[in-house]
Amino acid sequence: MKPTYTKVKKWLNILWKITGTAIILVGLGFFVSRVINIVPSAELSKEEQIITILEQGGCFVCHGGPDYCTHINWPVFGAIISKNAEKGIRFANATSILEHFNDSRPIDQTLLIKSQKVVSERSMPPMSFRIIHWKSGITKDKQKIFLRWIYELMATDHGWPLPAKDRPFEPIMPLPDSLPADFAKVNLGRILYHDPRLSADSTVSCATCHNPGSAGVDNLDYSVGAYGQPGMFSTLTTYNAVFHPFFSWEGNASTLALQSAMTLVDPVIMGNESFEPVIDRLMADVPFTLLFIETYPDGLNADNITDALAQYHKVLITPDAPFDKYLQGDSEAIGPDAKKGYQLFKRLGCASCHNSIGVGGNSFEYMGLSNNFFSIRDRIRLPDLGRYRITARPEDIHKFKVPGLRNIELTHPYFHNASAPDLETAVEAMAYHQRDKLINKDKVHQIVSFLRTLTGTFREKPLTDSERQ
Ligand code: HEC
Ligand code: HEC
Ligand code: HEC
Repeated sequence: MKPTYTKVKKWLNILWKITGTAIILVGLGFFVSRVINIVPSAELSKEEQIITILEQGGCFVCHGGPDYCTHINWPVFGAIISKNAEKGIRFANATSILEHFNDSRPIDQTLLIKSQKVVSERSMPPMSFRIIHWKSGITKDKQKIFLRWIYELMATDHGWPLPAKDRPFEPIMPLPDSLPADFAKVNLGRILYHDPRLSADSTVSCATCHNPGSAGVDNLDYSVGAYGQPGMFSTLTTYNAVFHPFFSWEGNASTLALQSAMTLVDPVIMGNESFEPVIDRLMADVPFTLLFIETYPDGLNADNITDALAQYHKVLITPDAPFDKYLQGDSEAIGPDAKKGYQLFKRLGCASCHNSIGVGGNSFEYMGLSNNFFSIRDRIRLPDLGRYRITARPEDIHKFKVPGLRNIELTHPYFHNASAPDLETAVEAMAYHQRDKLINKDKVHQIVSFLRTLTGTFREKPLTDSERQ
């Protein structure tokens, strides 16, 4: 008995020494970091102060790509940090900050919004980094400088209002009541949008899949194109697309005119091989051709047709959503559940991706950022590869355009593959796959209540037969 007892005592002693040393080191770390982690000198320029905070914070080590992860050969901690770096760059890629410092290019809006969240919460860098890098933590003083920099860039480069005491920062902006537009062009675009002669068999118009009477979608799992051909993706709405910087799930097009052009010559959607047959079919309609020439003197050609379609999107907007009224100061515009839902939407970090006027639409993000979404499917289909199909960059596999969530209650089914039939399923899946959170029914209900307040007023209706004449 006795020797075993001594052995246990000996091991306990060693264990205590190890934990004791660790506690002292961590304590010392905190103490020293309080003393040495000070704000950059006020004599430095604003930009130099920020670069110092970012460098001390190790932000580029984990968010700047492999070239910046210089800790790789460190014992023990090297492995922890490079694992964090692998994850970190999937959550936030800081390339656009590095570019900004090189040639003053604007920093990606979504990256600024994501940074606003982590800096407000002082949740970055991760604890495992902070305990060995004593100057890395974001102190309250550093936070003040960092947040001011973010807000100023959002104002100058992206048109956001500067937050004030009575108007704190919100990651979502209200939708304007209207956009300046040339109404003759809008009207021609509206006629074209509803014209089935745009398709090879004259059966399908833009409105077939993007019906202005049903929130700009067809509510089908996969839309049906010319000659009854099935499409690959669930339809994205054309409503409020005008606020987005690029279009389609894979981000094929950077303007609405280009998106329209690609659709018109898509073999499945419109079934046309080129623009010529489209122009020929339209030119056969003399009254329409004359009307068109009144506004576009060089007549029916690819540029003018796609321009008119793009112009029409300026009226496909849905102002007056209850949530916008709430943002503008009417605290009664949304109910208590929706208010809780909005707080959750921010706290869980949904707003990190679904942000600004469109409540999304501004960035490409991994579907399955935290927990793989595709391993649970029987097989991965081509469209599941996401943006990779356009860029051929392996890091773009499973990246998709973040859909805008305005009018989301009406645009079911959800996800690029229509795998979520209702909002509850979509919200639960998002919390798990993007945020590693299993949320209960009450929380799902609150978030869905919030999402329902994003439904605005639809002023556009499908074209009637008499309008078509
Ligand atoms: C040791 C690696 C590491 C360092 C250093 C680090 N990060 Fe991170 N960062 C991560 C990881 C890992 C995540 C993923 C989120 C998580 O695990 O909580 C992340 C997530 C983020 C996100 C995304 C949050 C979101 O809502 O999706 C932002 C923004 C961010 N970090 C900013 C920073 C900034 C700013 C700094 C410097 C002050 C920093 N990070 C330093 C590893 C790091
Ligand atoms: C057969 C159905 C169908 C027709 C017809 C159709 N679309 Fe689409 N549209 C889709 C689908 C499906 C998507 C999303 C798929 C993708 O990403 O490739 C989409 C995406 C879009 C988007 C991008 C929305 C966003 O948020 O990124 C715009 C804009 C758009 N279509 C405009 C048009 C216009 C203009 C026409 C008429 C010239 C048209 N579409 C005809 C099915 C259709
Ligand atoms: C990392 C970025 C990211 C985060 C965080 C995120 N989403 Fe998403 N969300 C996406 C992407 C990307 C899609 C499209 C995925 C697809 O279709 O494969 C999407 C799709 C959706 C859709 C369906 C939209 C449609 O038109 O089909 C809803 C609803 C949604 N998200 C809600 C949420 C909620 C609620 C949260 C927070 C729990 C959240 N998202 C967090 C990126 C994100």
